[in-house]
Amino acid sequence: MSQQPSPISFLVLSVARESAQSSTEQKVDALIARMTLEEKIQMVHGVRRRGFIGYVPAIPRLGIPELALTDGPAGVRHGPGTAFPAPVALAATWDRSLAHEYGAALGAETKAKGQNVLLGPMVNIVRVPEGGRNFETFGEDPYLTAQIATAEIRGIQSQGVIGEVKHYAANNQEKERLNVSAEVDERTLREIYLPAFEAAVKEAKVGSVMAAYNKVNGSFSSENAHLLKDILKGEWGFDGFVVSDWGATHSSVGAANNGLDIEMPTGEFFGDKLLAAVKQGQVNQTTIDDKVRRILRVMMRFGFFERPSQVGPIDYTAQAQVARRVAEAGVVLLKNEGNVLPLDISNFKSIAVIGPYADRATSGGGGSARISPLNTVGPLGAIAERIGNKATLRFLKFVPGNDLSKSDPATSGAGLLDDAAQLAKDCEIAIVFARDFETEGADRVSIALPEEQDEMISAVVNANRRTVVVLNTGCVVLVNRWVSTAPAIVQGWYPGQDDGTVIADVLFGTVNPSGKLPITFPRARQDLGIANPEQYPGVSGLGHYSEGVFVGYRHFDKNTITPQFAFGHGLSYTTFEYSNLKLSRSRIRAGESLAVEVQVKNSGGREGAEVIQLYVQDVKASVARPVRELKGFEKLMLRPGQMKVARMTLEARSMAFYDPTRKQWVVEPGQFKVLIASSSRDVRLSAEFEVFS
Ligand code: NOJ
Repeated sequence: MSQQPSPISFLVLSVARESAQSSTEQKVDALIARMTLEEKIQMVHGVRRRGFIGYVPAIPRLGIPELALTDGPAGVRHGPGTAFPAPVALAATWDRSLAHEYGAALGAETKAKGQNVLLGPMVNIVRVPEGGRNFETFGEDPYLTAQIATAEIRGIQSQGVIGEVKHYAANNQEKERLNVSAEVDERTLREIYLPAFEAAVKEAKVGSVMAAYNKVNGSFSSENAHLLKDILKGEWGFDGFVVSDWGATHSSVGAANNGLDIEMPTGEFFGDKLLAAVKQGQVNQTTIDDKVRRILRVMMRFGFFERPSQVGPIDYTAQAQVARRVAEAGVVLLKNEGNVLPLDISNFKSIAVIGPYADRATSGGGGSARISPLNTVGPLGAIAERIGNKATLRFLKFVPGNDLSKSDPATSGAGLLDDAAQLAKDCEIAIVFARDFETEGADRVSIALPEEQDEMISAVVNANRRTVVVLNTGCVVLVNRWVSTAPAIVQGWYPGQDDGTVIADVLFGTVNPSGKLPITFPRARQDLGIANPEQYPGVSGLGHYSEGVFVGYRHFDKNTITPQFAFGHGLSYTTFEYSNLKLSRSRIRAGESLAVEVQVKNSGGREGAEVIQLYVQDVKASVARPVRELKGFEKLMLRPGQMKVARMTLEARSMAFYDPTRKQWVVEPGQFKVLIASSSRDVRLSAEFEVFS
């Protein structure tokens, strides 16, 4: 029997939805009619309240509940809680359903902590490799970012918590973040920096948007009429509310008239000054009503009037399971020469664990996304547990400059390196852990690993050919000094509270890695597209996005630069074969969509998951277009020998570029290629189709 609703039930559903909407609008209007101007002003800014990150007080006279806002994208920062893996690790899963679960878990914890709005996800694109908040992003690609973000937002909002997508827009560096103006052309904005926000609004129906600290083309994001009025509320039809980043409001009249709805964290501009501006006629009453309407509409839609926020129980065991599964699925196996991994405990009698931080969990990055975890498991402990008494485990903490055995500080590093090499030599297997320290508020000074960790890795891999390097970094790092000697490299990101368990599961093969890189690893810093001070950090307050749409792998492809590890790269303990690529049609009219399917078989000996990636290439275009762009992906779990079909749809937008002159998305007639790939540089199958007008 068909499960499809009949046309009549469709009609009933949509009529019901419309009438619910209109009754919400009526209720909101009725409330607004009863509010004094002072009460309205009270709703459009935060007040400081101890223990709260953002707080708009209730108006008991009218039954309007409070609004409590909390960070953030990697866990709920209202007191200690679950430290989820960093968002970049979630992106590396390339798994929409896990992103939904991650969001639902964040939403559940937000709600249980009595909060209404979660300040995330962050959907800014990795542009500057040094970016201090890259760990909070979903990487360098707008499509992947949009897909993960929409799934996560749906998850958050499924719990009756408002998602707040941030930071709108072009917020791509920490250096000068409060002042820099992202000088970015309209096409680049639309194709690279805005799609995830657009999808959050149109597809995931996000309730709230955070306006960024930085300026965009000369005007602060919190008073940028083009971003807020023309695009967000105009073109995209956003009917929720816009909140300023904390302290990112710079005016009363400008911000109020150009689309900001709530100032955070206080009412410096949207308190008494805004009240005065309304009284003087510089801001219309209807403008204030529109802000209040947006806030009340979303609060009503989320049921806050019937269910005021309340602290409740939270199942931290269930939360931890979600965090752990995401962390596992986000681990990227970068290299595995000679199948060093997975480690078979019956094959060795001694193992060395080396690294300054190997004895504690890399639970996250710093800044507003930092979480105080309830419990953590570090790699050393987890590995020791796996090994039990089956082999000898020896640990060297390797803290540069802290080598007590050497009296001369100038040689202490060298002494430690000798110790590391000796230990690696003495053991059959060596596992060396390295990390970096990304944080909000400061970009990394270099994309090399900090604190002599490169030297440490080199010493270990040179001493023992059975070495596994585990990286816990928030974004790319340079690996050139030891990459060719190290047989196995695992990218674990910031795995969250269960770091150790997750990494041990991957190393010992309980988990078959299935993550893929959401960012390109370069061979050298100069291979990256952000290459001069005009681009970053900017000169005289202007950061020129002169690379245009050629961000991340788009830059590497355009300039035929070989990456160290390509966007989309990630190995498995099994292998996959691709066959039978089929397009639904070989010719389509501009504006039509196209269905793509491909068979994938697990040709190895272990169960594993593969991310099938679809890139589109416009063979000949009238504007400079990227060589290939990610426009689809599917992650399939396959048993050994099992075959499945991946099905993906290319919408008209997948083939389009943004034409700023015509102010629209354009699909140009001509030949296009569909590339089916295991990474952006590992294309397995391709097919052509033609677009006609
Ligand atoms: C500033 C950060 O940029 C933003 O992401 C965060 O949500 C707010 N502070 C509140 O902590």
